Amino acid sequence: MSQLDHNKENRDLNRLGTDYESRDAKKLSMMREDLNQCDEIILSALLMRNRIVEDIMSYKEKHDLPILQPEQEERQRIWLESRLEGKRHGKEIISVFKSINKNSKRIQARKLFRYNLVLIGFMGAGKTTMSDYFSTMFAMDSVEMDQVIARREGMTIPDIFEVHGEEYFRDCETNLLIELQSRKNTVISCGGGVPMRDRNVAEMKKNGRVILLTATPETILERVKDDHSRPLLENNKNIPFIQSLMDKRREKYEAAADIIIPTDGRSIQDIGEEIISRLRELDSTGK
Ligand code: S3P
Repeated sequence: MSQLDHNKENRDLNRLGTDYESRDAKKLSMMREDLNQCDEIILSALLMRNRIVEDIMSYKEKHDLPILQPEQEERQRIWLESRLEGKRHGKEIISVFKSINKNSKRIQARKLFRYNLVLIGFMGAGKTTMSDYFSTMFAMDSVEMDQVIARREGMTIPDIFEVHGEEYFRDCETNLLIELQSRKNTVISCGGGVPMRDRNVAEMKKNGRVILLTATPETILERVKDDHSRPLLENNKNIPFIQSLMDKRREKYEAAADIIIPTDGRSIQDIGEEIISRLRELDSTGK
């Protein structure tokens, strides 16, 4: 092959290569364009969805309807599963919907509470249970003070009492409350002794509404009888002890509380609804 022919063949091959490249680039850019359009649709749908979530919340507030409707979530789950039957990428889509739901819950929580929810009350009054409930229903962050302190100190609460003494533990509580003021929309479950220090009450009120959960000594005993994580109750699991410690604490508890919610014999959802409606009442009176 002469040098000229060789050069020509090279040029032809190069052109063919560039033709292929530009065809691929075109095809890819068209597909990306399609993807962009999908994103536009998803974006508009999400903006519209979020607006509707806010509208529903306003409607419920205006007409005093129950805010929490867990059956609605279940209905959506069943609908989604049936719509996805036999379709590819079902798991991925379900996970997208889970995060859409989580965001809706956050939107509702931010609309309902502009502050932290601080749960106080005697051991076994239901603080952890209600904190878990709020964090599930509204996707709120939750802080279990005892847990955070135990994790940071690298030992259990009974060990902290044993090794460093109660005063040290109470100081940990005060410091943690101060730290939590920078949070918003968080449920804080306080250890039972937290409101005993006036300083703690002042700190928790700076950025939170204080919810006192109450129960009779009989209910408390029933709830804590098999638990061994509370040094103050170990070897003291009887009605007279619980009653007397409760009496000693009552005044401080009540003085700290923005609202007081009895929990005996009630369902978690019922208690949750009362907390929400009482907080709304409080917010609307501007106190
Ligand atoms: C205490 C309550 C406990 C824990 C510690 C002391 C108290 O928390 O902080 O054992 O003084 O009442 P719970 O109320 O969550 O059990």
